[in-house]
Order: sequence, then C-alpha cells, then structure tokens
Amino acid sequence: MSTWANLGLQDSASPLMEQLIFFHDHALLILVMITVLVGYLMFMLFFNTYINRFLLHGQLIEMIWTILPAIILLFIALPSLRLLYLLDEINEPSVTLKSIGHQWYWSYEYSDFNDIEFDSYMIPTNELSNDGFRLLDVDNRIVLPMNSQIRILVTAADVIHSWTIPALGVKVDGTPGRLNQTNFFMNRPGLFYGQCSEICGANHSFMPIVIESVPVNYFIKWISNNINS
Ligand code: CUA
Repeated sequence: MSTWANLGLQDSASPLMEQLIFFHDHALLILVMITVLVGYLMFMLFFNTYINRFLLHGQLIEMIWTILPAIILLFIALPSLRLLYLLDEINEPSVTLKSIGHQWYWSYEYSDFNDIEFDSYMIPTNELSNDGFRLLDVDNRIVLPMNSQIRILVTAADVIHSWTIPALGVKVDGTPGRLNQTNFFMNRPGLFYGQCSEICGANHSFMPIVIESVPVNYFIKWISNNINS
C-alpha cells in the first residue's frame, strides 16, 4: 500500500503492474529528454545575436522537426498499444470474483462456489484496531489465491463506481446495466489495498477494497469454511 512520502507508483504485486511501471519509466525518460532539449534551446535563445533579414523558409529544418516528433511518438504509442492488449487478455482464469459497487460499499460474489457472497464496508475510524489502516480497512476482506489467474467481473447497482487496486494494476469501472471484465495474477502473498476511483457521491472516499492474497491451500480452506457456515 501507499505510505508517507510515496510519490511514485506502489510496488507491483502482479506481472501486469510490473509492465505498467516499465512503461511509465520509459515514457517519463522520453519526456525528460524532450524537456531538457526544449528548455536548453529556449534558454539559449536569450543569447542569440544572429539576424537574417531575408529569411522566409527553411524546408530542411521544418522537415526534420515535423518528422522527428512523429517518430518519438511512435516509440510511446507502440509499447502503449502492446500494454493495452496485454491488460485485456484473459488466460483461463481459475477463480472468478464478482464485485458490485453500491453507494457506498462493495459487495462480492464467488460464483464458482455456491452461496458465498458478502458486503464489504470500510471500518470507521472510531472502531479501528491499533494495527488497522484509517479509511482503508474493511470489515470483510476479499480472499484470493496467489499464483493463480483471477478474473473479476465488475458492475454497480446505483451509480458508476470504479474497482481500483494500484499494486495489481487493476482499474475497472462498475457501471449499472453493464458487466465489465478484467483479470490479474498475484505473484506474492499480502494485503493489497484499493479505493473506488469514480466520483460516486458523498461517501466516495469511504468505500475501500482489501484483497488478502494467500497460498492456494489457504484459499481452499477459507472457501470450505464459508460454504459450511
Ligand atoms: Cu464508488 Cu467512488
């Protein structure tokens, strides 16, 4: 999760987020190079003493400074397109999780297993335990197996919400009347925190998401415990 003075992206917990971070760094590097070059040129203009009274056009230089930015944009557009299709790829998921956005909480359904469904509310600050995270912890966490392909189906019951977990590189809008799909793969155990990121009303800030990433046998144990009850 994000902590104090954390300005960059969170550490990735999935291969897709790793790729997103690589792309971010790549784009940022190109941006820095352009900013430095343009900044240098603009600064040097102050000291320019050359004057050419008869200058009307310069075909060659205009050709260069038109085509060069187009080529640079290609170096951003192609990896971006690669990522876009990579994020959309579904690879035979072993678990499907449905998440439904409400004003203002999430409810979850594990439709692979009979009648496992629950609501997930934020824990209010006055009820928080000492090791809890304010405005981020929930009463019922999602439990999912690590090292498995997971599909999530997102929708909403009232207004548009967005199911977003930065560490996993997942951000899907939940829209009433629609069913959106995405997938992820958690490559380490842990708690992954997220928040709704579609302005959905007065308590938009207070419908966080918590995933418990656990080994597969723990997940099976959790599932069987919840089916019996
Ligand atoms: Cu739900 Cu913002």
